[in-house]
Amino acid sequence: MKIKSVRGTHDIFGKNIKKFNIIKKIVSEFAENNGFHEIITPIFEFNELFMKPLGEESDVVLKEMYTFEDRNKDILTLRPEYTTPMIRAAISNNLLNDLPLKIYGLGPMFRRERPQKGRFRQFNQINFEIFGSDDYIADVTLIFLANQILSKLLPNNKIFLNINSLGTKDNMNDYKQSLKSFFNDKKSKLSDDSQNKIFSNPLRILDSKKEQDIEVCIDAPLIYEFFSNESKIHYERIKSSLQFLNINFKENPKLVRGLDYYCSTVFEFKTEDLGTQDTLLGGGRYDGLINSLGGPNLPGIGWAAGIERISMLMTQPDHDIKYVNIAITDKKFEEHLLKIINYLNSKKIPYFWNHKYNLKKSLSIANQTKSKIIIIIGENEYKEDFYTIKELSTGKQSKIKTTQLDEYFK
Ligand code: HAM
Repeated sequence: MKIKSVRGTHDIFGKNIKKFNIIKKIVSEFAENNGFHEIITPIFEFNELFMKPLGEESDVVLKEMYTFEDRNKDILTLRPEYTTPMIRAAISNNLLNDLPLKIYGLGPMFRRERPQKGRFRQFNQINFEIFGSDDYIADVTLIFLANQILSKLLPNNKIFLNINSLGTKDNMNDYKQSLKSFFNDKKSKLSDDSQNKIFSNPLRILDSKKEQDIEVCIDAPLIYEFFSNESKIHYERIKSSLQFLNINFKENPKLVRGLDYYCSTVFEFKTEDLGTQDTLLGGGRYDGLINSLGGPNLPGIGWAAGIERISMLMTQPDHDIKYVNIAITDKKFEEHLLKIINYLNSKKIPYFWNHKYNLKKSLSIANQTKSKIIIIIGENEYKEDFYTIKELSTGKQSKIKTTQLDEYFK
């Protein structure tokens, strides 16, 4: 029986694993330079960690979570995002004594969405969070960091930053009331989906992609009308700092994000090069979330980026590892082979052996992979304790005694 991979999942290998590893390396360099510490949390958590914080009426909770009952009847969920597990981990491990806490992580997330280009059911995210700072500079430095990482990984793509502010939770509640009555008056013009959200989740209607909803939203009230003075100042300072840093952005008053925990600053980096799944990175503030998960009353802000989406835009990595190839003519000389493998490992010299006792085949692979040299092991080499090393570009062969290897590879 041939077993297929599960719909919406994918195997990462070949050039994609190289890109994946480049992303990991660059992200961890930026993280360390900016004082973020790595954290890895479990892939599954108790379901209640996600239900309320992400929003019981959000698409993620309503339709997309992989939730199952464990044998002892615990209800567990494969994490659909990383912010809430990071908060849970910070609380569980008493990491919130020394603030602000700046952490980052990379790993798989799970959402049962309809698979399409750039959208998977298991995908990987890069995630950065700052817990315990309400300073607008935290927002600015996080957006700056996101911009730096994306520009480094995707120097040839046009990436657009959209920002908005949702004000405080109180401002948002007033705004929601106003939206409810606005949308209720226009109910018949909205799509069925949006009609169902008028009272449960009116903010989501603002980012509906349906033509008829977009039409109605043109005249919808704007959050800015409900801002407190404090919210206004916070948002204005972010915008002027971004200008100071020469980071181009577009204000999008309809940007609300898909998870319920956000307030104040929200932002997304998008591209035109990916089709409909065009958001590379999204994030924002979630003041109040840490408290609602049983932690102290601390503000928080962060973002996450989709590794697959970034990888799809990255150009082919060009620095392939150059291997030293090995050829051995007969299994009888295996000790000599093991000796050279041991030696190359101790010197951290990458080698490739095709597991075939066939000089011709090994030579052909070495030529195909543009290897510089091939180490040949035959009867004489074994008996007299030397290696024949052939330079592939010139065809020049040298007899190198085991004791001369250091000199040769210097
Ligand atoms: P999100 O917008 O749901 O935010 O996801 C962030 C990014 O993950 C998206 O912009 C996209 O690149 C990628 N992504 C999401 N779903 C998929 C999918 N099905 N397939 C492939 N890539 C996907 C969050 O998850 C928040 N936790 C971000 C955050 C961190 N906010 C504050 N801190």
